[in-house]
Amino acid sequence: MFVVVGVTGGIAAYKTVHLVRRLIGEGHEVHVVPTADALRFVGLPTWEAISRNPVTTSVHDDVATVRHVSLGQRADLVIVAPATANTLARMAAGIADDLLGTTLLATTAPVVVAPAMHAEMWRHPATVANIETLRARGVHVVGPADGPLTGGDSGPGRLVEPDDIADAALALVARRDLAGLRVVVTAGGTREPLDPVRFLGNRSSGRQGVALARAAADRGAEVTLIVAHVDADVRADAAHTGIALSAVGTALELQERVTDAAATADVVVMAAAVADYRPAEVATSKLTKEANAGRLVLELVENPDIVAGLAAARPAGQTIVAFAAETATGDELLARARRKRERKGADLLVVNEVGWERGFEQVENEVRVIGEGGAVLAAATGTKRQVADAVWDAVLASR
Ligand code: CTP
Repeated sequence: MFVVVGVTGGIAAYKTVHLVRRLIGEGHEVHVVPTADALRFVGLPTWEAISRNPVTTSVHDDVATVRHVSLGQRADLVIVAPATANTLARMAAGIADDLLGTTLLATTAPVVVAPAMHAEMWRHPATVANIETLRARGVHVVGPADGPLTGGDSGPGRLVEPDDIADAALALVARRDLAGLRVVVTAGGTREPLDPVRFLGNRSSGRQGVALARAAADRGAEVTLIVAHVDADVRADAAHTGIALSAVGTALELQERVTDAAATADVVVMAAAVADYRPAEVATSKLTKEANAGRLVLELVENPDIVAGLAAARPAGQTIVAFAAETATGDELLARARRKRERKGADLLVVNEVGWERGFEQVENEVRVIGEGGAVLAAATGTKRQVADAVWDAVLASR
């Protein structure tokens, strides 16, 4: 999506850096349009580096591309954050004396404003009237939040957290093609305890699973997300109004939780990296070198294959999606993926190539979706969000 982010001159402008990063991370093309005042808070190089696009404030820059209207015309979504009292007044009056002003007049895309100012300014009749005017024209107002303000006072006027602004804005333009579907997604790596302080784990960050859950929630599904161990920033990403989150530790806990949740689900996506084996016995006290001088032999027993169990017992009409991370390449990768899909009884299998350097914490991902008869239904490369959307497209197409 082509997103214009207007930034105006308030101290909260630094928070908009996170908003832009989030939008870029989800695969959107972002063009930042700061006012001249905004650049006194966060400089132009920051906006260019973070958005990976040229940034100007004036209608007299880059005139050959008719930039003063082209950004607004191309936009699918415009977000102004922070929106100062001055900017709200200019918007209400239709003033277009800089690039943000002309962009706002030239666009027919949904416009979201996130006001930030002192409480007195927010309550002033001029601002109240301007907000009413903007709302009447269809502008979406997110916030402001109540809380401490710069300078020590407190009240309504804080910029809403950037992730909440992004959620509200993206929900306006999201496809709602998964509305009415109940989906269960598992994410992250299980941890199998050896003793009270150690476990067997794996390198899964949980990033792809959480992206799948968020994409489904944005597209209107009712989402249950069951997370094993995930990286801290990924866990923060799981906070989304459309997601019911629950946490587990071991493969056996995951099996119990997902089996319960799957009973009423239309789609189950097993993106979790489940440990194939667990220690046969969990020591009740810490294993010591004293007791295991020179050598320690661990006995492992196999964990149940959760997705195979779900597939074997699935209610009519339920779609089961399995994942496979394989170190093979080319034809061998596909052959293994096809065998794995058959063996597990999954409807779809999403396969990606991994290695020491590939596939784990990386932001970009590359997958293929294998369906009925081993057919390659989709191939996707991009951010985990883009891959997630491609997987949901394949799920919808296969139902
Ligand atoms: N999976 C599962 N239960 C397990 C192991 C894996 O449900 N005990 C699921 C994963 O969530 C994933 C898929 O099965 O969706 C692929 O897991 P993978 O470890 O690649 O499959 P394995 O059968 O263990 O094959 P391999 O021997 O290649 O590891």
